[in-house]
Amino acid sequence: MYLTRNEEAIFNGEYGEIPQKAMKALVKVGEVSGANKLVRVNHVHISGISYFNIGDPGIEFLEGFADAETKFATYTTANPYAILVPYRNKRFSEEVILKQSKIIRALTRMGAKAFTCAPYYIRRPSVGEHIAWAESNAVLYANSIIGAHTNREGGPLAFFEAIVGETYFSGVHLYDGRIPKCYVSVEKPANYVESALLGYKVGETCPDRIPYVEGLANVSESWLRAFLSAFGATSGAPMVVIEGVTPHYRKLFSDSGLKSKIFVSLSPEELSFTKGSRSPEDAVYIIGCPHLSTKEIVGIINYVLNNCPKRSNESKELWLITGPYSANAVYRYENKLRDKGVRLLYNSCPVVTRLDLLGIKYVITDSGKALYYLPKLAGVRALIKDRSVILKEFCGGR
Ligand code: F3S
Repeated sequence: MYLTRNEEAIFNGEYGEIPQKAMKALVKVGEVSGANKLVRVNHVHISGISYFNIGDPGIEFLEGFADAETKFATYTTANPYAILVPYRNKRFSEEVILKQSKIIRALTRMGAKAFTCAPYYIRRPSVGEHIAWAESNAVLYANSIIGAHTNREGGPLAFFEAIVGETYFSGVHLYDGRIPKCYVSVEKPANYVESALLGYKVGETCPDRIPYVEGLANVSESWLRAFLSAFGATSGAPMVVIEGVTPHYRKLFSDSGLKSKIFVSLSPEELSFTKGSRSPEDAVYIIGCPHLSTKEIVGIINYVLNNCPKRSNESKELWLITGPYSANAVYRYENKLRDKGVRLLYNSCPVVTRLDLLGIKYVITDSGKALYYLPKLAGVRALIKDRSVILKEFCGGR
């Protein structure tokens, strides 16, 4: 791999041991991926920061770097952390809360600007900009909707990329790496959850290839996010070329030479999900995977304030999850919402939280990604329903 004089100096340890370690990791991965050079990135996004995932070794790793006065060399954001609020009379131990705080503090000391899985609402990259993001839904949004260039990084590599401020120039950083290899047609979804279920199925259809998808041209940003985040659960591809949405989609399609398309639709059984089956009495409703945009959360809050009755402490709860970008718009509603059994949660993620330790058994969600990962990582059973069905059901309107 070609290295500039400055990169070579970092590689040889002239700037110290830590940048050297980071550069070596980056060059190694780059060489394996066939990159012949590195490229400067304006934004790195790190994933994998929940104490439940990285444990004590993760804290030691991060604190080791922070104690050595490591600073990120470029604008850096990080994924959400574990939800630490109590549920009914159960709460996580002081030890868990302290350890999660140590992770947050170490990353903040190094320069992390925000904790959210929607970093595009914190700093929106431009078309063609090179960035290095971990977190599949964010990667898919950046490549497919914005037209920025990022491979689907792993958490530790993204951390090293933040220290160096560069990434390896291969994969979807190159035009050729963005050409679709799988041609899919879908029926325009009728609601949020149909978009999520379609994303899930398109991911199963193209588990390791970038698809070209027709049928989503006039779908809202919110539904596209539902589609892409669910796609990321069943496919390893870093991008979906969406007809009518992805910058340069016409050229990417014509350069692909794709001819035969695969039709992906929802079966009557899958469609029946979207209407909603009976929910367990003790389920918690969670909306916000990926983190709600300010427009989405304000819309939901308005609905709840106008349609939900007051509740006693022990009745159903609805959790709305968003990033720091929505805080100013929604803080003032916190008390009124609490009376209705609604909690606003910021910067956190239910999937990377051991919800079972809080006594939660079931979650009702509108997210295809959460449906896939909650049972594996959070120790709870999950049901998927459309956002409108969840809200109606929660407010007692069905
Ligand atoms: Fe975000 Fe966690 Fe879902 S990181 S996309 S809320 S799994």
